[in-house]
Order: sequence, then structure tokens, then C-alpha cells
Amino acid sequence: MTLIKPLRLITLTFLYFVTVLTMLVYTSDQEIFFDWTVSYAQRAPLGVNKQVIVINDQLPGPLLNVTTDNVVHINIHNDMTDPFLTTWLNGVQLRSSWQDGVQGTNCPILPGHNWTYHFQVKDQIGSLFYFPSLHFKKAAGGFGAIRVNNCAVIPIPFPLPYQDFDVLIGDWYNTDYQVMRTSLDVGNGLPMPDAILINGLGPNEATFDFQPGYISLTIPFWFPWSYTTQDDEYDSLDIHVGQSYSVLVTAKNDTNGTSYPMIASSRFTENILFGLGVIRYPDSVAYPLGTISPGPTPFSYTYFMLQAQSIRRNLTVGASWANPQGSYHYGQINISRTLILKNGVIFDGHRLRYTINGVSFIQQDTPLKLADYFRLSDVFEPNIMFDTPNDNVLLVLGTSVVDAMYHDYVHVVFQNPLQEIQTWHLDGYNFFVVGMGFGTWDESKKESYNLFDAVSRSTIQVYPLAWTAILVKLDNQGMWNLRSQNAENWYLGQELYIRVKGIGQDDPSTIPIQDEARIPENVIKCGNTTSL
Ligand SMILES: *[C@@H]1O[C@H](CO)[C@@H](O)[C@H](O)[C@H]1NC(C)=O
Ligand SMILES: *[C@@H]1O[C@H](CO)[C@@H](O)[C@H](O)[C@H]1NC(C)=O
Ligand SMILES: *[C@@H]1O[C@H](CO)[C@@H](O)[C@H](O)[C@H]1NC(C)=O
Ligand SMILES: *[C@@H]1O[C@H](CO)[C@@H](O)[C@H](O)[C@H]1NC(C)=O
Ligand SMILES: *[C@@H]1O[C@H](CO)[C@@H](O)[C@H](O)[C@H]1NC(C)=O
Ligand SMILES: *[C@@H]1O[C@H](CO)[C@@H](O)[C@H](O)[C@H]1NC(C)=O
Ligand SMILES: *[C@@H]1O[C@H](CO)[C@@H](O)[C@H](O)[C@H]1NC(C)=O
Repeated sequence: MTLIKPLRLITLTFLYFVTVLTMLVYTSDQEIFFDWTVSYAQRAPLGVNKQVIVINDQLPGPLLNVTTDNVVHINIHNDMTDPFLTTWLNGVQLRSSWQDGVQGTNCPILPGHNWTYHFQVKDQIGSLFYFPSLHFKKAAGGFGAIRVNNCAVIPIPFPLPYQDFDVLIGDWYNTDYQVMRTSLDVGNGLPMPDAILINGLGPNEATFDFQPGYISLTIPFWFPWSYTTQDDEYDSLDIHVGQSYSVLVTAKNDTNGTSYPMIASSRFTENILFGLGVIRYPDSVAYPLGTISPGPTPFSYTYFMLQAQSIRRNLTVGASWANPQGSYHYGQINISRTLILKNGVIFDGHRLRYTINGVSFIQQDTPLKLADYFRLSDVFEPNIMFDTPNDNVLLVLGTSVVDAMYHDYVHVVFQNPLQEIQTWHLDGYNFFVVGMGFGTWDESKKESYNLFDAVSRSTIQVYPLAWTAILVKLDNQGMWNLRSQNAENWYLGQELYIRVKGIGQDDPSTIPIQDEARIPENVIKCGNTTSL
């Protein structure tokens, strides 16, 4: 979950994976309070001492266990010497970008200060996670799992799982995050990680105790608010930086003393790294015997693109909504705009710059959301990026904000001309993943789209020399971050903001307030807004 580099992770359990879904059923409608202190600590997951970031002395941080419709208040105290912000990744579909916790929406919580996030968890269930958004802190910790449980009134389409597990998979560097950051600043790339950790633990340290014969839910894995069909079973899953799934696992009933490895393997890296956890039964030996499988063979991008396409929505069941998902015909809505976003990388003479349609993002000291609110027109100029790539534009440094209208139905094609995997995330939304293919996208590719039962999610991979197409209804006003989930790319400019404005607000300088939450009373001001 806290992948820094785009490793491809394959989780193998040698068990049955029935695909996806939900969790236990609780009631909601209540306010939930958390008090978190973020600080440095020394930990040595791989036997090498490292300064890590803990929350309430825990790595990973505390589980955020909430139910749909809960109103959540999280008071974060920054006891570090560096500014801090947390973002609620993976479709905690905030209705307010004031709570998004990224640099374009919030001023950082300064050392010695605290700030309380307030948000309601709406229209979703499943396993998500949070992590520090200010760059590279996620390499040191500060992340944790979020469970959004069902409302009691909405049934789940399978037997209640016997137990739940959170599985956080991340790569790990023994190097300090500040050293890594400095290294990027002077033009170096990141090295290979030192290891893959599961739940912040080294090989065979994370254990999962299964009850024979029962269904368990393991939780790195989840498509927010949709159930997938159950005709396919998977014994491995292709997971990318920043993605989460919920899966049902049917435990074996013929336990014969064996324990089983849970394997997260990086594939398509020169040296394959393994994160190893252990699945145990009551009478199991402590550790699995035998050799560790690196995952399915033969191994190809085609194999995993086919797997991604095979995961489809079950249209006959609702998830967080009472109505069956199939009643929403996303494939029949007219598209109001198409964005073709092509990623690139270029050396600017000092360091690498990662780009979207030739524009590499420059952070401002004033959050864009605040600049917008106070009508400061000198912080950024909107629409410096074109909707489609122009191969004459190699590098523009700028604060890229795309203006869009509330309720627009936008078709986005991520075009990847490079040999490496890309992973894209959009805050504030889930989108329908309608197509993927190798080569260069053109209009004819629309014929291959799944306009019927595609899954909806917030983070999507684009395979090397390939494209991925999504459809998104801009039904959430605010300033929303679209970014590469690969930390290096993100840090070096591969992001933009989509400013979703209220109807009738054609003037880009007006504030999108129509359906949006008001500015929080406890808002922190910084940059040009400090004295306003
Ligand atoms: C999560 O919250 C639900 C509802 O309050 C509770 O029943 C359950 O025990 C909690 N789980 C954990 C692991 O805290
Ligand atoms: C900081 O924490 C205190 C209690 O510890 C709380 O009363 C106050 O509202 C918090 N400040 C902000 C800005 O959230
Ligand atoms: C496991 O197998 C035993 C013996 O075959 C059977 O009695 C038991 O009901 C099974 N348990 C489950 C949970 O399926
Ligand atoms: C969809 O879910 C329903 C309810 O659980 C189930 O009966 C049906 O088999 C599922 N359909 C598919 C194709 O998996
Ligand atoms: C236990 O069962 C597994 C698979 O069902 C098998 O691979 C293994 O050899 C068995 N172990 C023993 C000790 O019989
Ligand atoms: C979609 O566009 C077509 C062609 O322009 C038009 O005939 C149709 O009414 C539109 N549908 C909706 C729902 O707006
Ligand atoms: C506001 O900030 C921008 C950069 O973020 C700067 O260029 C500009 O001069 C500032 N304006 C004022 C009035 O300070």
C-alpha cells in the first residue's frame, strides 16, 4: 500500500480466492472521534535501524474502522520536525476537497501543531488506506488501513465472513526518506527497494490465523462500492501502487499440519523481491515448507491485462447503495469531454521531470483551493495543459489546473508511451474502467469498451506501451488531485488538479460553492493567504 516504486505485486496464497467483496454489517449514523499523534521512532523491520513515522506509536498506523455514513473526526497532532498531512486514499469519496489532505488543498500541519479532519464516509464500503501526502514521508511510515463497513440495511451477497484481516503491502528502503528526497532533487533516480513488507513486518513475521473451512476476508484489495461477479477464482492478483481490493478467501478444510505462504512478489523487476506472510491453521507448523513460487508462468503483461479485463461488476447486487448497481447505465451517458493524458519524462538539466501532456507540476506555497476561495489570481493560471498531447510540447513547468463543469461526463484516456507501468489515482471520485489495450489509443478503440459491467475504482494501472480508458461523472465539486501513484513520478511533477465548478460558474475565477461544503472553521492558512 505504500509502494514507492511501481513494482508489480502478485499475491499468491495457494488458496481459493473467490473474488471480491464486502464485510460485516453494522449500523451507522454516528460520529466517530480519533486522536492521533504522529512522531518519529526507531524501528528495524529488516534488522537495520531506521527512523520511521509512527502514529500513536504504531507502524502501520491505527486501523480506521468506520461504517458508511459515519461522520469522522480525526485530530492529528504533529510531533515531528517536518510539516505533515494525511490523505485518505482510494476513494474515501470525500464530499469536500477541503479535507483531502494534499498540497493543493490544505496547508500542512506544522511541527508542534494539530489539526482535525472532519468528513463523512458516503456511498462506499470496503478496504482503503491512508498515507502521508507530503512527499516521501510514505517511505517512512505514517500509513494504515481504513475499513468502511456496510450499513446494516444493505445486505451482502455472500455468507458473513468468519473473520477480517488487513494486509498492507509496501516496498521498503533502509535509507531515510529525507535522503531519498534529496537524491531526487539532485537528479538521481531511486534505487531498488530493500524489501517488500507486509503490515510493516519482514519475511514470515506477519501471520494470519485461519479457521478451517470458513470464509475470511483479507483486505488489501477492494473495489470501492461494487461487487464483482463470482464466476472466476484467482490464485494470484495483479496489484499496483496505491490499489486496494477486498477478497474473500475460502480456507481449506483438510488441514494436515501445513501452513501456507502469502506472497507479494515484484515482477518485471530485475531482482524479484518477495514480501512473505504466513497463513496458519490451528494445528499448523509455524512456517511453510518448500520453495516460494514467484507467481504465474509464463509471465506477461498480456496475462495481467486479461486478468484485469476479467474482473467485472455483478450487476444484480448493490453494494453501498440500496439499488442494484446495474440500474446506473454508465455506458449510455453522452460524453461531454475527452482528455487524452500522455505521460512523459525528461531531464531538465538538473533533475528528471515527469510530465502529463508535456506539463510538469510545480507546487505553490499557497494551496490552490485556498487561492481559489480568496480569489487570488496570481497563484496559478488554469488550463495551461491541452486536452490532448502535443508532441511539440516537451516540457512546461507550471501549476496545472484543468477547469471542468459539475456533472460533466468525462472520458479520460491514459496513454503510456514508456516501458514502465503507470498507476493513476483521482481523488474524490470513483471511475468506470472501460478499456485497456496495447499500442496507441484512437477513436476506433471505443468499439472495444466495456459499457456494461466494468468495475469502478479510484486507482488504475496502465501497462507499458499501452492505454487505459475511464469514464467519470464529475458529480463532486472541488479541487481534486489527479496524480501518478508512483512516488518518484509524483514528487517530480506528474500530477494536476481538476477544478470542478458549479453550474453557471463559467468564470474560472468564481468559487465552486454550489453543492460543496463550506470552508472549514479550523482551516489553516499559509502562503499568500496567511494574513487573510
Ligand atoms: C469495527 O467497528 C465495528 C462497528 O463499530 C465493530 O463491531 C468491530 O468490532 C470493529 N472492528 C475492529 C477490528 O475494531
Ligand atoms: C487541537 O487539539 C485540541 C484538543 O487537543 C482541539 O481542541 C483543537 O480543536 C485542535 N485544533 C484543531 C485546529 O483542530
Ligand atoms: C470440514 O470438514 C469436516 C469433515 O469433512 C466437516 O465435518 C466440517 O463440517 C467441515 N467444516 C466446514 C466449516 O466446512
Ligand atoms: C451476482 O450476485 C448474486 C447475489 O449474490 C449471485 O447470486 C450471482 O450468482 C452473482 N452473479 C455472478 C455472475 O457472479
Ligand atoms: C498437506 O496438503 C497439502 C495440499 O493439500 C500438500 O501439498 C502437503 O504435502 C500436505 N502435507 C502433508 C504433511 O501431508
Ligand atoms: C446523446 O446525444 C445524442 C446525439 O447527439 C442525442 O440524440 C441524445 O439525446 C443524447 N442523450 C442524452 C441522454 O442526452
Ligand atoms: C502569491 O504567490 C505566488 C506564488 O505562489 C507569487 O508568485 C505571488 O507573487 C504571490 N502574490 C502575493 C501578492 O504575494
